[in-house]
Amino acid sequence: MKGKFIVIEGIDNAGKGTQSALLAEHLRSKGFKVLLTKEPTNGILGGISKAALNKELTLSNKALQLLFCADRAHHLDTEIEPAMQDGFIVLCDRYFFSTLAYGFASNINYKWLRSVNISFRKPDLGIYLDLDPKTSLSRSVKQVDGLQLFGNIEKISKVRQAYLSIAKEFHLKKVDAKGTVEEVSQRINKIVDKFFNIKV
Ligand SMILES: Nc1ncnc2c1ncn2[C@@H]1O[C@H](COP(=O)(O)OP(=O)(O)OP(=O)(O)O)[C@@H](O)[C@H]1O
Ligand SMILES: [Mg+2]
Repeated sequence: MKGKFIVIEGIDNAGKGTQSALLAEHLRSKGFKVLLTKEPTNGILGGISKAALNKELTLSNKALQLLFCADRAHHLDTEIEPAMQDGFIVLCDRYFFSTLAYGFASNINYKWLRSVNISFRKPDLGIYLDLDPKTSLSRSVKQVDGLQLFGNIEKISKVRQAYLSIAKEFHLKKVDAKGTVEEVSQRINKIVDKFFNIKV
């Protein structure tokens, strides 16, 4: 059987890492072979992207977006596509919707962002974890003072607004990411079980 490609998206702290691990466990318990992966990747191109995000090196904003795309192309060619050929469900924590949402929120032209990402494989199922910016920040251990909080809220709100319209454009399933880990996980499992026709 050819595999399926599932993507989990959302703003910082929406619970992508937590929920993709739980979903992988759920699908494995139903007998599926699952590859859990993420972007930016742990490879060399993902490493440079993360270094740029952490300001360990300076890149122009457009160059950074193209670096995310290069990392993505390599990820698809060397990991995602081969695993799918092998019948795996590939579960990816962040994909090109992250580039679109964060890139747009950093004032990059959306048409350009779309044009450099649109030819990548579309997910069979895209899940967008929707969270309000205040809850996102309350889950963060990184916030230190009110000023930072204010700056972040503005930026995160912009990213969330971008995600909301991207979710519509690309038919991502919107899931309320508020509530306990267990509650959110059940919301996701319901969608995924329906997609795979899993009887509960
Ligand atoms: N439903 C939840 N309720 C409360 N806290 C949560 C919930 N889900 C995740 N968290 C906590 O929020 C933090 C961020 O979660 P997680 O790393 O899964 O999010 P993420 O979307 O992957 O974030 P990032 O974009 O930064 O990678 C973690 O400390 C996690 O334990
Ligand atoms: Mg994460």
